[in-house]
Amino acid sequence: MKKKIEDILNKKNKSKIVCLTAYSKNIAKILDLYCDIVLVGDSMANVLYGYKNTSGITLENIIKHTKSVKKGIKKSLLVVDMPKGSYNNKSLALKNAKMVMKLTRCDAVKLESNKKNFNIIKELVRSNIPVMGHIGYTPQFKKKFKIEGKTSQKILELIEEALKIEKAGAFSIVLECITPKASKKITSKLSIPTIGIGSSSNCDGQILVTDDMLGLSGFYPKFVKKYVDLSRIIEKSVKKYSRDVKNNKFPRFKNFLNG
Ligand code: KIV
Repeated sequence: MKKKIEDILNKKNKSKIVCLTAYSKNIAKILDLYCDIVLVGDSMANVLYGYKNTSGITLENIIKHTKSVKKGIKKSLLVVDMPKGSYNNKSLALKNAKMVMKLTRCDAVKLESNKKNFNIIKELVRSNIPVMGHIGYTPQFKKKFKIEGKTSQKILELIEEALKIEKAGAFSIVLECITPKASKKITSKLSIPTIGIGSSSNCDGQILVTDDMLGLSGFYPKFVKKYVDLSRIIEKSVKKYSRDVKNNKFPRFKNFLNG
């Protein structure tokens, strides 16, 4: 059965929420078998397009990839990242989020709060657009990677930001690269689920960039568990194919189309 926002909310304190990213149909179809949430992340900027940061990704890119992902999704909640610059103010955010929802038929959008975008979240939620928040290391607004929530003061600031996101009406919140202590405190203070990435198991759910966990991206920080080295497997297959073509072993008679 297709997951709804309430299903995600109901998982808090009951069972862990499983999330991964997808940028295309074939991967989405596999993720859909096991994930509660599939995110079309703006991480596609680095992972797929080879940009240095996420700012090169446009709304058009996001919409195109989401349309593809949507074709592979039957059960999971489909969440779409709003790219940098697409939600600079309330009216722009509303116009663009409405367009994303209409053109992709996704279930929700995600945006980085950057300690101030609470009214934007509120405006979208008021217009029946479900929103996932994102705090901690937020690549759209922070140039340098840093683990967040190391001091008591920083933990308090993160809790305050998370509570404001919840109050604005978000249904969940990504905690990216936040200390285990801070993640635990935020998760216990909120009634909406927290989804961690590099933020320990003290969160209500986990997300990873799929290409990282499959060994495809070449980006393996400590918090990523590489479940398979897909690059090697693909390379081996391509090598075999190349050898077969050169040695006239492919195509064989059975691969011929009779016409
Ligand atoms: O863009 C993305 O893939 C994300 C996840 C890492 C949470 O925001």
